Amino acid sequence: MLSPTNIQLQPYKIGSIVIDPPVVLAPMADVTNGAFRRLVKRIGGPGLLVTELISTMALHHKSARTMTMFDITDDQHPIAVQLFGADPEIMAEAAKIAVDEGADIIDINMGCWVPKVCKTGGGAAMMNDEATACRVVEAIVAAVEVPVTVKTRAGWDYGHLATAGLARKLEESGASAFALHARYAVQGHTGNADWNLIAQIKQAVSRPVVGNGDIKQPQDAERMMLETGCDGVMIGRSAIGNPWIIRDTVHYLRTGEILPAPGFDERVETALSHVCDLANTLGEDCAVRHLRGQLPHYIRGYPGASRIRDGIHSACTILEVEAVFRHARTRILSGEDQTDDVYSPRNPIEYAAF
Ligand SMILES: Cc1cc2nc3c(=O)[nH]c(=O)nc-3n(C[C@H](O)[C@H](O)[C@H](O)COP(=O)(O)O)c2cc1C
Repeated sequence: MLSPTNIQLQPYKIGSIVIDPPVVLAPMADVTNGAFRRLVKRIGGPGLLVTELISTMALHHKSARTMTMFDITDDQHPIAVQLFGADPEIMAEAAKIAVDEGADIIDINMGCWVPKVCKTGGGAAMMNDEATACRVVEAIVAAVEVPVTVKTRAGWDYGHLATAGLARKLEESGASAFALHARYAVQGHTGNADWNLIAQIKQAVSRPVVGNGDIKQPQDAERMMLETGCDGVMIGRSAIGNPWIIRDTVHYLRTGEILPAPGFDERVETALSHVCDLANTLGEDCAVRHLRGQLPHYIRGYPGASRIRDGIHSACTILEVEAVFRHARTRILSGEDQTDDVYSPRNPIEYAAF
């Protein structure tokens, strides 16, 4: 007999789009590309996928490389395309392109603090310029039929909760929902996410609010929903090399049951299908290089981590990646690898500047 959780899992709506279940894969640059989104969707779970952030200026300049970032296939809906930039006209023009490429929702990035993004006036910098932020939302709402959402931080600097007031204005400008990464921009990923901030934004607006920050296991999602009243939860880093987290979270929220973790073989098979799918878009060499930092996450918790990490870092082909995993399996079964050498993420991706 399963013990149900303390929440009743309800879908929420972004415009007319039903997000069911209310568990969302967070946008992550260099991670949530088409191959990873397909994988997460296939394993099951998310009510919404979000692309990695896409530069509207690059779309304006017709960058062929940027166009490949859409990669929206039929199995990815509903999907939000996340755009960054600060020029309302260019953002609106990019939103039209995104809709032509299959976007069900346009999401505006107002949370990324890296200088490359902020110096354009976009990303988290936009939280400091309410007038432009509103104009951007209004321009996109006028340009496309699909709903427009905003992903933001709590504010730029500690203690300056910009988002409550800003979100109210953006709501008036036509934003249909908000996702809040419950940290200030200057924090990057340091410190703990402060979920009280999510509760405060939820109080401030009438449109749905999705909570984000530090969901590491399914029970955290339940706690976030209970403590903040948010309409949905968004999961980022915990999904890297662990696409099961979304399925497990949805299952837990529905039933109170924690599903058994996938075994080594399933993890390896999934890692290989990830790199094979990405190879279809980027080519094998590029796909293997691109995933060098992410593939070791699939075997988090298994012994022989440093050997596997080093092996994958020097692999150039999918066959070589496969051989590294196969070799690791043999060593694990024979007990050759040290049980204290388990993979604990030290990869820079864990500390990416978003
Ligand atoms: C590698 C990486 C890339 C990210 N890229 C984006 C991005 O493109 N757009 C965005 O809004 N947030 C981005 N983020 C932030 C995440 O969406 C999320 O807000 C943050 O990681 C906190 O959630 P978490 O604790 O579940 O990871 C990124 C985070 C990481 C780790």
